[in-house]
Amino acid sequence: MSVPPRPLDDWNADQYLKFEDERTRPTRDLLAQVPLRKARMAVDLGCGPGNSTELLVDRYPEATVVGLDSSKDMLRQARKRLPRCVFIEADLAAWTPQEPVDLLFANAVFQWVPDHQMAMKRVIEGLPQGGVFAAQMPDNTREPSHVLMEQLANRGWWANYPGLAEAARADLPGPESYYDLFKPLCQRVEIWHTIYNHVMAGPKAIVEWFKGSALRPFLSALDAPAADDFLKAYTAEIARHYPVRADGQTLLRFPRFFIIATR
Ligand SMILES: C[S@@+](CC[C@H](N)C(=O)[O-])C[C@H]1O[C@@H](n2cnc3c(N)ncnc32)[C@H](O)[C@@H]1O
Repeated sequence: MSVPPRPLDDWNADQYLKFEDERTRPTRDLLAQVPLRKARMAVDLGCGPGNSTELLVDRYPEATVVGLDSSKDMLRQARKRLPRCVFIEADLAAWTPQEPVDLLFANAVFQWVPDHQMAMKRVIEGLPQGGVFAAQMPDNTREPSHVLMEQLANRGWWANYPGLAEAARADLPGPESYYDLFKPLCQRVEIWHTIYNHVMAGPKAIVEWFKGSALRPFLSALDAPAADDFLKAYTAEIARHYPVRADGQTLLRFPRFFIIATR
């Protein structure tokens, strides 16, 4: 292979925000279940471009709300959006709260953190009694959208590019394993799934959606010609598996896992 693959790019806040409304819906659903009437201190873990942080500010106007993320581009957008909030650059693989926090809110981030159950346990252990940890993660690795990425990575002319074999996200462990791990630390652990059916403007919109998230590790492992061909093949497969409805729209089935643990 003569052209080296591109380094893993930073997250792209603009690409992520193309579907802000749909992506923020589970964020709202998670926050609606947080059992805290008031909060003095809330930290938005993996705050992204500040869409989830903004919901925390609205729900707890009296609280100090801090956003944490490892992406410079996401933090730049978040600071622009919420100039009064504090945003910190940190890696959740190693971060623990340094002061008493009432709410640790983590929407769509822990699926990206290696050994995420242990990382979650560590931050839960840092909560005071009564503190709440609330998280949501996509549970969609068995959906056609993700199975197709993995299959195409293995069977195209690009299959030998280094890094491609590790690009797929692992399946989430079963709900029982989270319960067994966190319950000894918590008075209450609630877990549920919601399956969304997002209305998308055709199959190409589904590809655009995942360019802002799950496709990133695949595309980052490829050089430009391979990434173009991979995307063309993926778009054709998505069109076969996500047919257009009578009104021209396409439904993106999207299961998500939710957990709220109260210390
Ligand atoms: C899918 S976005 C979620 C954004 C927002 N919370 C929301 O509700 O839409 C995931 C975010 O997690 C961040 N992230 C991924 N791995 C991380 C890590 N190890 N530590 C901190 N942030 C991380 C990414 O930079 C990205 O901004």
